[in-house]
Amino acid sequence: MSDSVADALRRTAERLEAAGCESPRLDAELLVAHVLGMTRAGLYGESRLALSDDECAELEQLVIRRERREPVAYVLGECGFRRLTLTVDRRVLVPRPETEIVVERCLALVSGLDEPRILDVGTGSGAIALALADEHRGARVTAIDASVDALAVARENAERTGLPVELLRRDLFEGLPEGPWDLVVSNPPYVRPDEIESLEPEVRDWEPRAALVGKGATEAVARSAREVLRVGGVLVVEVADGSAAEVAALLHELGYRDVSVTPDLAGRDRVVEGVTTSAD
Ligand SMILES: C[S@@+](CC[C@H](N)C(=O)[O-])C[C@H]1O[C@@H](n2cnc3c(N)ncnc32)[C@H](O)[C@@H]1O
Repeated sequence: MSDSVADALRRTAERLEAAGCESPRLDAELLVAHVLGMTRAGLYGESRLALSDDECAELEQLVIRRERREPVAYVLGECGFRRLTLTVDRRVLVPRPETEIVVERCLALVSGLDEPRILDVGTGSGAIALALADEHRGARVTAIDASVDALAVARENAERTGLPVELLRRDLFEGLPEGPWDLVVSNPPYVRPDEIESLEPEVRDWEPRAALVGKGATEAVARSAREVLRVGGVLVVEVADGSAAEVAALLHELGYRDVSVTPDLAGRDRVVEGVTTSAD
């Protein structure tokens, strides 16, 4: 059955609202635009009156997936992060807007260096590493992850973007690759196991558990980073909502100086950074 663009949007939004999706109209726009091969903005200048039968059938498949609360980024197979469009699927965490602030802090911290040596710990889709390589063209970026599946996605994204990032399989609890690094950045798993059940279905039922829950990962990164950062090098970590003070205190305790906290766009303290004083 053919459908006008306006009807397809309305009906899709109604179904997604009934399924409990948080932003049904936005999701409907993204799904319809994807099927038509255009941007969301393009939908409103769309002169064609109807979706073809094939387009309706394709949309139906996407809507069914989204009704099951699969993250919209997985349904589309990609998402925007900083200036990049990255491939994402169930093997990796969907990069979040707050993580864009992590990248912003990193760029500010290495802006004075021509060829900063950067290590991204727990790279997932490669979002942080690739955005840094994209926005600081001299940066020499290495990224690690314990998950072979995640590294495969990061590799696809490195190829897709044409950006030079070295990708290594490594468990952060076994120590970090030898530096000296100018910057170590990480968005480690920081959800507590007892919090999982209270999360949105998109996160709880679809995103990789190992990307979400990682007891002690932040502390392990902060400890190991001290050993591989150059003196005066910086650690930047994303933290859970409500954990910034605790992580800042940890960094002080470990001997980092100039410890500071940056809020995300929603005003929540989200990024903690500190500078190494000596390599002991
Ligand atoms: C919160 S996700 C962050 C992904 C990506 N950096 C981002 O910001 O979108 C955490 C990542 O750490 C990885 N990870 C979890 N435990 C790890 C470990 N012990 N060693 C290395 N990587 C680990 C997961 O596979 C996942 O890709």
